[in-house]
Amino acid sequence: MKLKLPAPPVPDQLKPTPRRPDAPPKGGPLDTAKEAGKSAVDWVDERTSLSGGARWMMFRKVPKGTNWFYTLGSATMFAFLNQAVTGVFLAMYYDPSPTRAYESARYITNEAFLGEFVRGMHKWGSTVMVILVFLHMARTFFFGAYKYPRELNWVIGVVLVVLTLIMSLTGYLLPFDQRSYWATIVAMNINGTGPLVGPYLADFLLAGPEFGATTLSRFYAVHMLLVPGLIAALIGAHLYLVAKLGTTAPPWLKADDDPALRTEEA
Ligand code: HEM
Repeated sequence: MKLKLPAPPVPDQLKPTPRRPDAPPKGGPLDTAKEAGKSAVDWVDERTSLSGGARWMMFRKVPKGTNWFYTLGSATMFAFLNQAVTGVFLAMYYDPSPTRAYESARYITNEAFLGEFVRGMHKWGSTVMVILVFLHMARTFFFGAYKYPRELNWVIGVVLVVLTLIMSLTGYLLPFDQRSYWATIVAMNINGTGPLVGPYLADFLLAGPEFGATTLSRFYAVHMLLVPGLIAALIGAHLYLVAKLGTTAPPWLKADDDPALRTEEA
């Protein structure tokens, strides 16, 4: 027996609008399929209101005179994403044990499908990221973007640049060839001479008083879990502040040129 339930008490505004007599007839399955993406996004948005956040993040006013130098932050972010994606594929083959590391890296380059390409992208990408992060830092410095109210974003940036360098340092050991081994010994000896925290930091990184069997896995954990996690979280905070505070106008733009920049005194 078919049970007829009463219609839900939906307010008039939420009831579907009746089809206009001159509207084209409703499409078949093909039209429905074409709308599938939109419907799926609508479905998620109705339950999360995420589109408001996306609009807030992406549709912002930017000052007059914004130029290519303002793309350096996004370029750094894409370099980081490249490192994250290629790093995931390298981790599928890499083995951080002192007896297997070199061989697994050799296997990636010589035998794994597209291994040399992915390893090359990761290796050269690391250099690109370091160069970009410094260029971006220089851009924000010379445009005076570190001043009020963006000091906190500058401080987050300083932590990001240090973390990027820690990524380079810890990644350098992973191929575990002669060069990476001795470079790490030198770096840790320098590190150990640092004032106050130096010896403790070297102890922590080496996982003991000197280079030992667990040093490699310590570097690997720092390189692929700890620091990338911190970088991702800090990039999130960094971008939140960029969206909230807006970007700085180029220093050569006079307040008189743009009413939005005029202050009380100007
Ligand atoms: C992983 C590293 C980093 C990423 C992914 C990143 C990303 C970004 C992006 C996308 C922007 C907005 C667009 C732009 O102005 O370029 C930005 C702005 C900014 N960044 Fe970074 N950034 C990083 C590191 C740094 C560093 C090292 C500093 C300085 C020490 C810094 C300081 C700033 C400041 C002050 C702004 C605001 C710029 C303005 O108001 O004009 N960032 N960052």
